[in-house]
Amino acid sequence: MRVVMVGTGYVGLVSGVCFADFGHEVICVDKDPKKIETLNQGGIPIYEPGLESLVAKNVRAKRLSFTTNLSEAMKGADAVFIGVGTPSRRGDGHADLTYVYAAAEEIAHNIASGDSEFTVVITKSTVPVGTGDEVEAIIAKHVQPGRYAVASNPEFLREGAAINDFKRPDRVVVGTENERAKSVMRALYRPLFINETPILFTSRRTSELIKYAGNAFLATKITFINEMADLCEAVGANVQEVARGIGLDKRIGPKFLHAGPGYGGSCFPKDTLALTQTASEAGAPVTIVQAVIDANDKRKSNMADKVIKSMGGDVSGKTIAVLGLAFKPNTDDMRDAPSLTIIPKLQNAGATIRAYDPEAMKEANHLLSDVAYTDGPYEAINGADALVIITEWDEFRALNLHRIKTLLKTPIIVDLRNIYRPETMKMQGFTYANIGRPV
Ligand code: UDX
Repeated sequence: MRVVMVGTGYVGLVSGVCFADFGHEVICVDKDPKKIETLNQGGIPIYEPGLESLVAKNVRAKRLSFTTNLSEAMKGADAVFIGVGTPSRRGDGHADLTYVYAAAEEIAHNIASGDSEFTVVITKSTVPVGTGDEVEAIIAKHVQPGRYAVASNPEFLREGAAINDFKRPDRVVVGTENERAKSVMRALYRPLFINETPILFTSRRTSELIKYAGNAFLATKITFINEMADLCEAVGANVQEVARGIGLDKRIGPKFLHAGPGYGGSCFPKDTLALTQTASEAGAPVTIVQAVIDANDKRKSNMADKVIKSMGGDVSGKTIAVLGLAFKPNTDDMRDAPSLTIIPKLQNAGATIRAYDPEAMKEANHLLSDVAYTDGPYEAINGADALVIITEWDEFRALNLHRIKTLLKTPIIVDLRNIYRPETMKMQGFTYANIGRPV
């Protein structure tokens, strides 16, 4: 199959590279010449474990290439994916579809002037219900019916685990009722049939909604366990045991029940917001998702209060060491990271922040002010009045607790990800606060 991927952001790049690794011939297209130049020189514009070597391998095998020239790329293409960004529109929280429609327009012109007999145009970006219809209307203005089909194929990739998620998904969802498009999509995902991955064909609108419903459900699950954690703290119960106790019920399932400082990232905050907008406009408001959004926003701010309380109610003039800034480990992504709410609130209360993150400090530096970044975790901790863990990078789990204790001015640890055991902390003589477990 010949595949074109429009947009080399997170979704576009990972999907393009993985399709190439499936054996297809993939050309990734982006309007940004700098990005294409970086990629052509073997560089990767995003941080994702394993991606760089997978790109190199497929470029070497001549299955993967990068260009700014869409017309060239589209010659003989069987499938053209739209993988451009859909940021939240300022003001109303709707997904901004400017880039999607601009890509559709350009793709339409190229199908019209090209000689491909049949092209499937697929939206891979997360787009609100009905976007596929708009894309189809744009293409129909320029191209004869029968020469194309428009399908939806949402991605369910997690940052930091994206390659594995692409190659070993729980399911593939494809929204199209066009038989020819279905067989193109089946051929594209054929390597997954070996491990019997279900491929679910639905209507285009249903497929578009599945993506939002999935993310909103997961965000709800996290928010639910976060509220249970607060309740556990209030009544003296243990949230990890609650999570295990309910998670063993197959109807609930054990995943996404880790209580923490609130979800962040590029998907959950944006997609939950867009879903509530779509739903209320459609006259079918999803009140539960609105409650999740409100609870999650409030939670991030509550986490700063938790730190202040753990430090005796007053942090003015105090120095706080923060470990972990990214919204989760194995990424440099700072979008909607809890650290972006917690740190400024601590600063407003008079604290000085020293922080370390293995990957996200460069990104954080654009978004936070007056933070001193250090070369390693111990440098951040040295002489601080307390240590706060915001992101659960593996390297923080194995820190030398004895060394931490001697470096801290006062032995206070606030562990917002429950990476340490309360018993160990007590034994080591720390004042230890965590999420929903009795100390
Ligand atoms: C998510 C979805 O998982 C993925 O399917 C979709 O395509 C994009 O959005 P991602 O944002 O990369 O992926 O990260 P994920 O691992 O899902 O975590 C999202 C947020 O939830 C993070 O802030 C994480 O810390 C938080 N989280 C996750 C919890 O607080 N507890 C959990 O149990 C799981």
